[in-house]
Amino acid sequence: MTPTAGVRASDLDTPAILIDLDIMERNLRKLSEYSREHGFRVRPHTKTHKIPALARKQIGLGAAGLTVAKVGEAEVMLAALPTDLLIAYPTIGARKLDRLMQVAKQTAVSMSLDSLFVAQQLSDAASTHGVEIGVLAEVDVGLGRVGVPPGDALLELIRGIARLPNLRLDGIAFYPGQVKSLDEEGQQALKKVEQLLDEILSDLKGAGVTPRIVSGGSTPTLFHSHQLPGLNEVRPGTYIFNDRNTMLAGACTLEECAASILVTVVSTAKAGQMIIDGGSKTFSSDRPTAGSEVSFGHIVEAPQAVFTKMNEEHGFVDLQKAGRKFGVGDRVRIIPNHICVAMNLHECVYGIRGGVVEQTWRVEARGKLQ
Ligand SMILES: Cc1ncc(COP(=O)(O)O)c(C=O)c1O
Repeated sequence: MTPTAGVRASDLDTPAILIDLDIMERNLRKLSEYSREHGFRVRPHTKTHKIPALARKQIGLGAAGLTVAKVGEAEVMLAALPTDLLIAYPTIGARKLDRLMQVAKQTAVSMSLDSLFVAQQLSDAASTHGVEIGVLAEVDVGLGRVGVPPGDALLELIRGIARLPNLRLDGIAFYPGQVKSLDEEGQQALKKVEQLLDEILSDLKGAGVTPRIVSGGSTPTLFHSHQLPGLNEVRPGTYIFNDRNTMLAGACTLEECAASILVTVVSTAKAGQMIIDGGSKTFSSDRPTAGSEVSFGHIVEAPQAVFTKMNEEHGFVDLQKAGRKFGVGDRVRIIPNHICVAMNLHECVYGIRGGVVEQTWRVEARGKLQ
């Protein structure tokens, strides 16, 4: 990798992900202060940054452990020396579980899961390797993705897990991904999660189950976590950088967006439009999660310009409302809709302070899908 420390950010080759270090550090401190105030344990989801050095910073600011989705990510994140790793994904198959058991010989491992099929495989692998694995029973609080429904199904799952050797039932997990904004509709959705959680916890109490960990938390709901009864752990990922979707959700301001993608204008041949050197292989094809406009990022230098369309390596920007002109060779910074997926597309990212590159990080867990 070409050494870049000391290079002006505006001189970097493009497309390149720039991380404003002052903003990122503020975002990290904000969560650290909030979680201390409310007594939340934090296990940040590292699927956003995929960089052990940043996970290390999160641990340094008080994170009790790290969250990953994939065994490959867990293997990479061992470099951050976590004392605890949560695989927040039902992990299936002997190949993956054998690898996970090697991870579990190096740090405490737990998994959230929603079936006794997965729990049984995990128990078998843990018994073979002589390790103990923590388990969070995943309950669905409205997203309809993974998680058993509250009520009997959850109790059955919990009782089943408790019977399996080499598993330790740690508590419950949920992901309120359906709460995508903090407008009136979002507040109502959050209220529903509050009520459901209340019911879930009283069901568990009635059955004599006391979950040591009640794990939830997404970036849009992060700073409302104290409204959720019994919640004692948060697992936010995106909060470290934020992105355009977080902004559209009303969960952060432009000044709290740490990551942008620097691109170069490669064509202005068509009037009222510029083409930039980044398309779906640079930004990902994620659309905004709020509003009806189809657009792929916030253009910092021309907020009224609309990033309307992408081919793999071409981004189409409609300049009709931009209020300024751009020429071939100009550079602009764009805050992507979904930073987690964009990170997965880049080999490295640049930490910038005062317009100058201070750090270059390899995105070590990019592509670790297994
Ligand atoms: C299970 C789980 N936990 C936590 C997170 C973190 O959510 P966010 O990126 O909104 O902070 C995610 C995100 O996809 C997730 O799937």
